[in-house]
Amino acid sequence: MMTKVTVQGSHGHRRRKVDIPGQVGTITFQNPSGELIRVSERLRAKITALGTYVPPRVLTNKDFEKMVETTDEWILTRTGIRERHVVDKGVATSDLATEAAKCALAQRGIDPKDLDAIIVATVTPDMLFPSTACLVQHKLGAQGVWGFDLSAACSAFVYALQAGAQFIASGAHKKVMVIGSDTMSSILDYTDRATCILFGDGAGAVLLEPSEDGMGIIDFQHEIDGSGACSLYMPGGGSLNPSSHETVDKKMHFVHQDGQAVFKYAVRKMGEVCEKLLARNGVTAADIDCFIPHQANQRIIKATADRVGLKPESIIINIDRYGNTTAGTIPLAMQTAREEGRLKKGDLVLLASVGAGFTVGATLLRWTI
Ligand code: UT7
Repeated sequence: MMTKVTVQGSHGHRRRKVDIPGQVGTITFQNPSGELIRVSERLRAKITALGTYVPPRVLTNKDFEKMVETTDEWILTRTGIRERHVVDKGVATSDLATEAAKCALAQRGIDPKDLDAIIVATVTPDMLFPSTACLVQHKLGAQGVWGFDLSAACSAFVYALQAGAQFIASGAHKKVMVIGSDTMSSILDYTDRATCILFGDGAGAVLLEPSEDGMGIIDFQHEIDGSGACSLYMPGGGSLNPSSHETVDKKMHFVHQDGQAVFKYAVRKMGEVCEKLLARNGVTAADIDCFIPHQANQRIIKATADRVGLKPESIIINIDRYGNTTAGTIPLAMQTAREEGRLKKGDLVLLASVGAGFTVGATLLRWTI
């Protein structure tokens, strides 16, 4: 049987119709180097390098005691945070992202020009346009690469990971740099004790490449729910409320959060998407070697792990050192897991996140470095 398949090549390459004998679900296309690639539905992306970066300056809970009415004890018991890193003036999200990407490239020993695409997950782009991906591309010297920013707040890294994985799975690309980077200190009101103590700055980058042995990114369960938009948002500076003296006076360029509403939603939904994902893949909580959740609140992480029934020794928490770095938390936690010897090649890994939007995400993967 001959199956007619129409495919779209990458980099605007022309459409090619390919006849494939008896292989429904298999496509063949020409990659940018001109090679003909045959791709089955089962082709997976795998992580082949991980780089992270946090700025050197540290703000401790004790520092906050001098800035707002709070205590080290309140912050630690309610959130799990002890300290967070923040940038110096003039350092932006693209700088953190570039440093993280450089680490990943060095680890893999490849040139920035070898990349096919760069995806930057962020809610704090250097500016509304150009995209932070363009700025990172230029800073890396990655000529010929394309890319874009992805906005999904705290779930942006897992969403970007999935977007990158699809480019690999389709056969369009062989090397995609996925970066989660946020400079939360640029949008925090340091007189609002309910939000300013929560966040920090940081970035992490993973390189995605095709997996030859079936290991790598297995499946995902992502959801968005815009009914939660009013629970966590930054109202100023967009098309609805363009920047003006009034928006600045009303502090509309800062994070606004209904902490309890987000907390309740996060506890419910993070567990729910994890359970769906595990069940669909015939995996039990006991099979998970390493649970790497978004780091917003230690209590959310523990409640999710309890609900799903994850092994206590599988849970990665580094919120004490970094606070909530939004798109940076999951790759930073991957790094912590590796440094602590708790993430090894072949481990079954569950990622999970909830963030502004609301955005919810969970990813199941087999660790490959
Ligand atoms: O990553 C993006 C997603 N974001 C999240 O997942 C955050 C989810 N929410 C949370 O993590 C928690 O709701 C917070 C950590 C933000 C707050 O913890 P909470 O246990 O929900 O506290 P609360 O907002 O109910 O506030 C309890 C009390 C209040 O005082 P009263 O009204 O009881 O007198 C607050 O004013 O704690 C007070 N409070 C503080 N006290 C000392 C709020 N912030 C502080 C503070 N220091 N920094």
